[in-house]
Parts: sequence; structure tokens; C-alpha cells
Amino acid sequence: MQDNPHAGNPRTQGLGNTTRRAFIGAGATAFLFGGRCLFGADAATAHRPKPSGRVNLAVIGCGTMGRGDMLAFMKDPRVRIAAVCDPVGELRDYGYSPRRRSWGGRLAFKRLADAHYKDNACRAVVDFREIVDDPSIDAVCITTPDHWHALIAIACMKKGKHVYCQKPMSFGVSEGIAMVRAAKEHGVTFQVGSQQRNASEFRIAAEWIRNGYLGECMECEVGLPGGRGPYWGYSGDRTPRKAPGYFAPDGTWDMWQGPAEHHEGNVFIPVIHGPMCWRSNSRTGGGMITDWGAHHIDILHWALGVERSGPVAVENFKSDGFGADPLLDWAGEYSFDFVYANGFRAHVSNRYANGLRFKGKKGDLFVARGRLDRPDFLKKWDEGRDLGANEVHLYKAAAGHNHELDFIDGIFENRPIATDCEIGHRSISACHIANICERLGLSALKWDPSAERFTGANADDANALLEVKHHNGWKL
Ligand SMILES: NC(=O)c1ccc[n+]([C@@H]2O[C@H](COP(=O)([O-])OP(=O)(O)OC[C@H]3O[C@@H](n4cnc5c(N)ncnc54)[C@H](O)[C@@H]3O)[C@@H](O)[C@H]2O)c1
Repeated sequence: MQDNPHAGNPRTQGLGNTTRRAFIGAGATAFLFGGRCLFGADAATAHRPKPSGRVNLAVIGCGTMGRGDMLAFMKDPRVRIAAVCDPVGELRDYGYSPRRRSWGGRLAFKRLADAHYKDNACRAVVDFREIVDDPSIDAVCITTPDHWHALIAIACMKKGKHVYCQKPMSFGVSEGIAMVRAAKEHGVTFQVGSQQRNASEFRIAAEWIRNGYLGECMECEVGLPGGRGPYWGYSGDRTPRKAPGYFAPDGTWDMWQGPAEHHEGNVFIPVIHGPMCWRSNSRTGGGMITDWGAHHIDILHWALGVERSGPVAVENFKSDGFGADPLLDWAGEYSFDFVYANGFRAHVSNRYANGLRFKGKKGDLFVARGRLDRPDFLKKWDEGRDLGANEVHLYKAAAGHNHELDFIDGIFENRPIATDCEIGHRSISACHIANICERLGLSALKWDPSAERFTGANADDANALLEVKHHNGWKL
């Protein structure tokens, strides 16, 4: 690291001696030999601090969600935010409300961490490979756009680092399969940022369904957001231009683009490259079907007990068309059904209210963030405390611990936590296969959740889209 001309300079760290070629070379070699052993040659033992110790954590992706996660981790005295990483220096353009945008970028996050710990110790780097190569980092929080998750997570797991990876965990099915393999092989604690798993309304709803409280229940309506974007008041500016100065110095824009296919001339287009905006473009995001499906399909699978499996078909897919807008290319209007092996049917659409409405013989149950609407006969039930000893009790984090702290518990206690890598992979795989239906303009596809392959009509075309193509020299 001492040869790195950028070492010590928080604006430029990471552009030096750890070359992309070297990184790809090491990872790719191990992967090629990897049928059974993904990264055999230099597999590291998962870092497990002593009970009295501290988790040194790096936040990779200093944007909207990175801020929320970092603030949550900083509240835990067992955690030290030791490093932050982002190709963006600083920028006051992050958040869900045009009136309350907040500061992001590595320098802004370093200031936040240093103010909290009252020192100057937090490293700010441009290139996540500096985090990967730093043995003092025990864990990472990955809050980049979706196209980066798998590459960064696998590189970190390979070095024994624990991973809190934001949803949607993967950018495609092949990435998820590789991530699950790496998490098992390296024995790290992995939490997917599907925080609804640690919100009591969702757990209680899932427990009622699992225990048959609604009587026979074979149907659910899942409401996800619609629209093609731009969302949350972000600019619809479509003018191609040079990458903005907040990516300085030269080359850091490449660290944002990473494995995403470039638009012609490698231009920056605000409506798809600005903070939060990348979701609506298929080179960096999966649209609302993965963005919110990652949350609600995860709860659906939890309630059905298929969280390590998945649907057997997508049917009745209708949308206003993939690519109708060349930049915001995911459909804005969509509806389809997931069909499960026992015949359960989940109707998914942007037309339903955001949340899940389970339709049972004895009544309906609607659950959404902060809301649990139940039939009268369930009104007296609360917090699942009336569940009998022989009924299904679902995972609950330690008292007072949220999803982030649940992850830290998992690191210290080396035990299962709410949303491991396989659970996250299966939730998002379902969304990916719906997106494949959309891309191919099909109304239905059959899926074999054991083989994780499509079967039946159009299977060849659909299977070809399971493999994520990484561009610009990046490989898993
Ligand atoms: N769990 C939730 O409820 C929730 C909510 C919002 C977002 N998310 C997820 O969090 C992730 C980030 O979303 P967001 O809304 O915060 O996006 P954002 O655009 O606000 O922030 C992403 C940040 O990542 C940075 N980045 C890009 N490439 C990077 C790299 N190679 N290394 C380090 N940083 C890099 C960007 O410059 C940007 O600052 C997404 O996967 C999203 O789905 C989850």
C-alpha cells in the first residue's frame, strides 16, 4: 500500500497500486477453478471479534441508505466506523424529499463519523478494494447501487469480512448463486438489508399465516410502487454530459460505473446516474419490481415458508413494456402472478396498495409498514405472544435491536440472524425472474426452484438472461 501515490489523501485514495487487473486476475482465477471451491486459494477465516472487542466496519456507498445504516451502526458501542468509501467526494443531493436533501459522499460521511467518535480516524477511500485489502476491517455495509453488490460482497467475503448488503441483494440470479456459495464457504455473517424482517407487524402477519389463523389462505395481493421514474423529485434531465466534478479526480466515475454497460461515449446522464436515479435503468437497477419486491416478496416467502425455495411459475404478466422509454426502461405499469408448488397464487401489481393483503377463508389480513389490518377475531392478539409452544415462532432479533444491530449480534455470537444470504437470494430471484418475463415480453415462464432454471416454453431464452454480464473488465 505504501507505493500508492494516493495513500493518505482522502480525496484520491484507492487509485494507486491495487490495480483493477490484479484484482480481477486473482478473483477470476479462483472462480474459474471454482466448481466446488469458489475462492479456495486464499480463503480467509471469518473475523470474529472477542466478546469484549469491537467490530471495525466500513460503509461502502455513502448515499441515502448508507447514511441511515451508518447512523444505526454508530449507535452500537460494539461498532467502530473505521472507513467509508465512495467515488463521490461530497454532494448535498441525497434523500427522498427535494426539500430535505442531505449530504453524501465519502468526505461528508467521514465528517459524520469523526464528529461522532471525536477524532480524525475514519478513513475515506474512493476504491472499495482498499477496504477489501485492509485486514483491520471486520465487516462492511454495502449501500452502493445494485449493480455493484455482488462484486463487492464476494471480494469482502473472500477476505473473511462479514457483510451487511442492502437489498436487492443481487443484480441477477447468477450473482445471487455465487454470493450464497461464497457466504457458506467463508462462514461469514451475512445480513441482507430487508429490514421488514425485524419489524413486528410483518413478523406477526407471517406467524398468523404460517399457523393458519386465517383458515385456508391460497392468495395474496402484493402492492409495489409503479411509474418509470424519476422518483422522489429528482431531475428528469436527460442531457448527456461529462461526469460531474464531484467524481474528481479522473477515473472515479469509472468506480461508479464499474460493471455496468456504458451508455454511448461513457456519458453521465442525470436522470439515470444521479443519486437514487440509477434504479430505473436496467444497466444499474431492476426498477420497482426488484426495488420494492425485495421487501414484500421477502415477507411473502417468510409467511409461506418458502424462503429457501421460490415460485414455480410467473403467469399473466402484463406491463406497459420494457424499453418503451430508452433510459427509464423498466415498465411503470405491471401486474403478474407468482405461483407456488402448492397452488398458492400471489398477484403482484403496482395497482394494489403498497403492502401485502393475504386472503384467507376466515378473513383478510393487510400488512404494510407500520400497519397491520386484521379481521375482528384477531383484534385481541398482539406481538404474537399468544402463540402456543407447538406453533411456528419466527425469528425475532434481541430485544430492542434493529436489523443492523441484529447483524452485529450475528457477528459476535456466530449464529443465524434474520435475513441470511440464501434468504435474500431467493427473495430477489423471484423478482429477477419476473423481470426476465418483462424483458422478453412474455406472459408466462415456468421456474424450477431446485435447479434455479427455467423450464418449458421459452426456457432457453429466459435461461440465457440468468447470467449477469459484467462489463468494463469486471468479473466476479
Ligand atoms: N432497505 C431499504 O429500505 C433501502 C432503502 C433505500 C435504498 N436501499 C438500497 O441501498 C442501496 C443504495 O441505494 P440509495 O438509495 O442509498 O442510493 P444513492 O444513489 O443514494 O447512494 C448510492 C451511493 O453509492 C455510491 N457508489 C457507487 N458506486 C460505488 C462504489 N463502487 N463504491 C462505493 N460507493 C459507490 C454512489 O456514488 C452513491 O453515493 C441500493 O441497493 C438500494 O436498493 C435500501
